[in-house]
Parts: sequence; structure tokens; C-alpha cells
Amino acid sequence: MNFQQIKFKGSKNSYSILIGNKILSLLPRKIKSLCPKTRKIAVVIDKKVPNHFKKSLKHYLKKFDVTFLNFEANEKTKNLNTVNAFLEKLLFHKFNRSDLIISVGGGITGDVIGFVASTFKRGINFINIPTTLLAQVDSAIGGKTGVNSNYGKNLIGSFYQPRLVISDTSFLNSIPKREMICGYAEILKHAIIKDKKFFIWLKKNSKKIFSKNLKNLNYAIKKSCLIKIFFVNRDVNEKNLRMILNFGHTFAHAIEIKNKYSKKISHGEAVLSGMILESRLSYLKRKCSIQTLKDIKNIYEQNNLTHVFKKYSSVKSIQSLIPFLKNDKKNDDEKINFILLNSIGKTSQPNKNKISVFNLKKYSKLLINSNF
Ligand SMILES: NC(=O)c1ccc[n+]([C@@H]2O[C@H](COP(=O)([O-])OP(=O)(O)OC[C@H]3O[C@@H](n4cnc5c(N)ncnc54)[C@H](O)[C@@H]3O)[C@@H](O)[C@H]2O)c1
Repeated sequence: MNFQQIKFKGSKNSYSILIGNKILSLLPRKIKSLCPKTRKIAVVIDKKVPNHFKKSLKHYLKKFDVTFLNFEANEKTKNLNTVNAFLEKLLFHKFNRSDLIISVGGGITGDVIGFVASTFKRGINFINIPTTLLAQVDSAIGGKTGVNSNYGKNLIGSFYQPRLVISDTSFLNSIPKREMICGYAEILKHAIIKDKKFFIWLKKNSKKIFSKNLKNLNYAIKKSCLIKIFFVNRDVNEKNLRMILNFGHTFAHAIEIKNKYSKKISHGEAVLSGMILESRLSYLKRKCSIQTLKDIKNIYEQNNLTHVFKKYSSVKSIQSLIPFLKNDKKNDDEKINFILLNSIGKTSQPNKNKISVFNLKKYSKLLINSNF
């Protein structure tokens, strides 16, 4: 069977990320070697994952005592009530810490079930099987788990690493274009912040990612995971370097909050808008060249993605985001803390570009300049 393996080596624990097509059959062998005491397994599966995957999983796990739990994943069900319901199900079925919980779904399922795993009897074995492009290139890596509260997104959570991640690209067959864009936005972000060669590769191959070409998907997922791991390993608890992964996300989060996380704009579309606005800000702050901006804009144009930031082409639209920028979790004072871009593949260091609301209002007139 053809698959690639990446190792995440943390200070406390390490695990593998397996990437390939139709690789779910690896699961029973891996469980035996990684969690040899497993008797009971809870598989929490996103309701939108096609049913044949559930059938395959039932077959591969037939030697274990398996409970399947369906999950209707959305930002509203990503909450503590859901966590409690899953915890109680595990208690009801008498799971213990040497048993196993497996998440099969996108970033929401992985975040919720990772959190459940971290709190069940202070930590039960956890395997993450991400089924969206975003989850395979981003959320399944790095150990952040959590849920939303009425006060905001992802405010309750923990750092908890899985025993294994299996990124099987056959799950992506049923992923709609809009969700593919969400994953692509993070892939592009990874290239922009860390890897010029990967950016050049994306310029040539992005269309093949959208058409779900397996070879290209595998390569993009692997490169993305390696870049995310690079930052996470140097700063697991997000105190400094890991903040670079937030490039584009300062504006993106403000856009999402302003739109009340409605379906009008997806997270990926907000990130794509945010990366353009933060690249323009980098140019205005004389951090990057006009050519860098053009290179980024070109890749949006080539992939018909420019519509996402067209909404932010008036001073009023930019200024309406400022109150929401002030609540960004990177801020530790009144100023807004940006990760800016020096060139493709290189950003500024975290906490070096704090911009006051007053100055940001001045820049907002220039941020809408569509010439760059
Ligand atoms: N933990 C982290 O480090 C981290 C990083 C980035 C994002 N996130 C979180 O991830 C979430 C977003 O992840 P996402 O984009 O995967 O969202 P998601 O989990 O909501 O999945 C997107 C949509 O795809 C559906 N779906 C899942 N797998 C499918 C499949 N194989 N076929 C068809 N449909 C399928 C889901 O039901 C959902 O409707 C957010 O809550 C975000 O906060 C976490």
C-alpha cells in the first residue's frame, strides 16, 4: 500500500501522520502496535461522511468491541453540551483509559473529540482521522482541541496530542468546492509564510488540487503538515513562533465575527481575504515589495478566488472590521498585533508589528487600493 509517513516529535510525546489514498485498512495494525491494551473503541463519525466509510471501519475494527456514535458537526454543536453527552456515553459504556476514541470528521469533529479524549478520565487514547482538506492540512496537526462558548469561538479547550493521524484522501471525494477552498486557503498560507518553492509549486499545481488529483493532493497535504509541524514543535503552547501560523487570520477572525459566523462567508474565504489585506498592510508598512503582493494576487486570479476579498474594497467595509480586530487573542494591549510578510516564505517575528487603531484607520484608505 502506498502512503507517506510524517513524524510529529513533541517534547512529551510523538506520533505519526499517515497520508495516502484508501489507507484506512492500516488502522487495526496501528491500533495493535500503538494502543495494545485497547478493548473498547468509540468511533465518533461526522454524519456527512459517506456511509461506505462506516461500513469499512466496522469491517477493519471487527476484532474490537466498537461503539459508533454519529455527530452532526457544526459551529453550534461544537460546545460543552456535546462534550458532556459524549463523555457520558463513554462512561455509560464503561470505557477506561487504555481504551480508544477515534474521530472521523472535519476540524469540528476533531476539535470536539480531541477535547473529549483529553478530559475523559484525564486522558484516553485518541486517533484522529480527518475527512476534510482543512482538517488534513491544518486542524488535525498540532494538538489544539476545544469548543466554542457563547463568548466566542474555541475559547474552551486543551492541548492534547493524538496517538495517530490518518489522512486518507479518499474522504475528499465528497468534499464540496467551498470546503476545498477552506483547506486550500491554509495550504496557501503555509507556503506564503514558510516556503517559496512550495509557493512556486502551488502556482503551477493549484488547479490540480481543486480537481482532486491524488498525486498533487498528497504532496500539498504533506508539505502543509511539515510546515505546520515546524512552527508547532518550536512553540507547542502558542506563546510566540506559532503565532506566525495566524498570518491572514487577524482580519479573517474579525470578518467572521462581523458576519456572526454565518454561511455568508466561510472560514477559508475569510482567511483568503485576510491574507490579501495583511499582505497589503505589509507593503504599506514597507515590509514587503510590490512584487510580493502581485505574486499573491496572481495566484488568487489564476484560481478564481478574487471574489472573496472584493467585499472589502471600500474604506467603510475595512473600518467596520476594526472593532472586531481589537478582540483578537494575540493582542495584549490596545494595539492590534499583526503578523506581517517580508517576502514569499518569510514573515516578521510575532509581537513586532502592533498597530494602533488610529493608524489602522489611516491605512484603511490605502488597504482598499486594488492596484496592488
Ligand atoms: N485545532 C486546530 O488547530 C484548528 C485549526 C484550524 C481550524 N480548526 C477548527 O476546525 C473547524 C473547521 O474545520 P472544517 O473546515 O473541517 O469544518 P467541519 O468539521 O465543519 O467540516 C466542514 C463540512 O464538511 C462536512 N464533512 C466532513 N467530512 C466530510 C466528507 N468526507 N464528505 C462530505 N462532507 C464532509 C462537515 O459535516 C461540515 O459540514 C473550525 O471549527 C475551526 O475552529 C481547528
